[in-house]
Amino acid sequence: MCGIVGAVAQRDVVGVLTEGLRRLEYRGYDSCGVAVLQHGAPRRVRSVERVANLADQVQEASLSGTIGVAHTRWATHGAPVTDNAHPIFSRDEIALVHNGIIENHEPLRDELKALGYVFESDTDTEVIAHLIHHTREQDPSRDLLTAVQRALQRLRGAYAIAVFAKNEPDRVIGARAGSPLVIGVGERGNYLASDAMALSGTAEHFIFLEEGDIAVLSCDGVHIVDRDGATVRREVQAQHTSHYAAELGPYRHYMQKEIFEQPDVVADATERVRSITPALFGPNAQRAFSEIDSLLLLACGTSYYSALTAKYWLESIAGIPTQVEIASEYRYRESVVNPCAMVVVVSQSGETADTLAALKHAQELGHHHTLAICNVPHSSMMRLTELQYLTGAGPEIGVASTKAFTTQLVALFLLALTLGKERGHVSADDEARALRQLHHLPAALNSVLALEPQIVSWAEALARKDHALFLGRGVHYPIALEGALKLKEISYVHAEAYPAGELKHGPLAIVTNEMPVITIAPNDALLEKLKSNIQEVRARGGQLYVLADAGTKIESRDGVRVIQLPEHYGPLSPILHVVPLQLLAYHTACARGTDVDKPRNLAKSVTVE
Ligand code: AGP
Repeated sequence: MCGIVGAVAQRDVVGVLTEGLRRLEYRGYDSCGVAVLQHGAPRRVRSVERVANLADQVQEASLSGTIGVAHTRWATHGAPVTDNAHPIFSRDEIALVHNGIIENHEPLRDELKALGYVFESDTDTEVIAHLIHHTREQDPSRDLLTAVQRALQRLRGAYAIAVFAKNEPDRVIGARAGSPLVIGVGERGNYLASDAMALSGTAEHFIFLEEGDIAVLSCDGVHIVDRDGATVRREVQAQHTSHYAAELGPYRHYMQKEIFEQPDVVADATERVRSITPALFGPNAQRAFSEIDSLLLLACGTSYYSALTAKYWLESIAGIPTQVEIASEYRYRESVVNPCAMVVVVSQSGETADTLAALKHAQELGHHHTLAICNVPHSSMMRLTELQYLTGAGPEIGVASTKAFTTQLVALFLLALTLGKERGHVSADDEARALRQLHHLPAALNSVLALEPQIVSWAEALARKDHALFLGRGVHYPIALEGALKLKEISYVHAEAYPAGELKHGPLAIVTNEMPVITIAPNDALLEKLKSNIQEVRARGGQLYVLADAGTKIESRDGVRVIQLPEHYGPLSPILHVVPLQLLAYHTACARGTDVDKPRNLAKSVTVE
């Protein structure tokens, strides 16, 4: 979604701004822009093309300056056209970029129009720019900070902004309320961004703003006030550098790179675990785990499917009642609150608006035991929860989540083992066996990745189809859901997933000899049941693509293609079976020529509702 970069330095900041935008590209955007203060006036370049084109235009326009703001926009209010791209100006005196949504923009727009402001865009952002301008005009001191403070008090909604003014050439102001904003502290300048990754290579120390903070950045330092206007000190933290660099390397797409990183990130997550202990979830986990009687898992998209997979583990391994709910549903429905239920939010970004709002909603309802399973260390969810588990997959750039999912599964499996051990359901032998399996997972993942050539041949066939059906049973049903999501997300092939036992209750009606049916068939307790479901499909002419594993005993024949995973992996089997489905989606998308890393209409991190 939208990305912000801002800079004030003793040198030209245009390069920092455009490089920052380049690093934010993965989040998804449909227009972009840069503004600097040049020769005493704001100047900007905006584009509906890629950041690389914007950088060329910036050069052609000879844009340069020592303060500036930049933005990648993912359209919400107003079409993705140049006039709606940020930075947005007010009377050529204020330049502003904004992430989020201003809910009361309509009455404010009417009010500002009545005051003579002419709107040049359809954005809610323009309201903020004019409001700051107007507030500043009313104040004899013409102080930008005072104007920003007063203007923000009138906004309803979630936002992060960065703004500079014509008459204050030495400062950029940033503010956050509901959308993240981080300050990068440099030696000869200070910077801000909606994501620390935008500033990697530019700043080595970071300040993560709290909700309601407003920060004034100058070359000399950073001054932060809280929502009450009191000066506050926020911790300066050394940069968290991940060795999974956000560079593409030899891969064709980030998604491909991230699929192939899975053995390494899973190794990182499992090697450090030598025994199952609540401390894996933070110093307060032991006490918190002893006070809960159930779990409520909240998440969206792929993270929701990892939570659904975990429900099977948590109930079978730990014997703890577990509810899993889509965050956007939970936050708006009337639910019966059990204060002894621990709320677990699962999220790659830690910033997904619906999951964050669901967490806050649960806390307001009286859930005081909360855990975030998350891939971004200083994200909002990590800061709002009682317990935290960092999945450590490193930057995930592809919009389609892959390595974040498998590391979430590792985290959730560890949670099941931990709660199982605490509750007396996991013996020392069980623990030792589970640890052996976890430690062997990276090798097992590597042997699954070696199946890629066989999956490419499936993808070539699938790329010619418009629909696909995914089937799984038990703990592999959520994996079927995830496979279908991956396929539709990046290849645009319509895909649905069902628990195979549901076939006769409806979906069998769409099975013809045109329908590819991708079936997850591990050698588990439900295999015989699944084989009957496979017969039902074959009898209707459905084209079966079966992901079997050791001992499944399903042979390829006319209308039935089988890829056999080398090992059956017991309860951890979902972590292996999802990998061929990721590869299948990836190669189908490549065969269809879609923009794999930036699929249409989607953004990496959904920070608005
Ligand atoms: C996954 O491929 C999707 N792009 C999407 O469903 C994603 O998982 C969802 O938006 C949740 O994001 P989060 O994990 O960052 O909260």
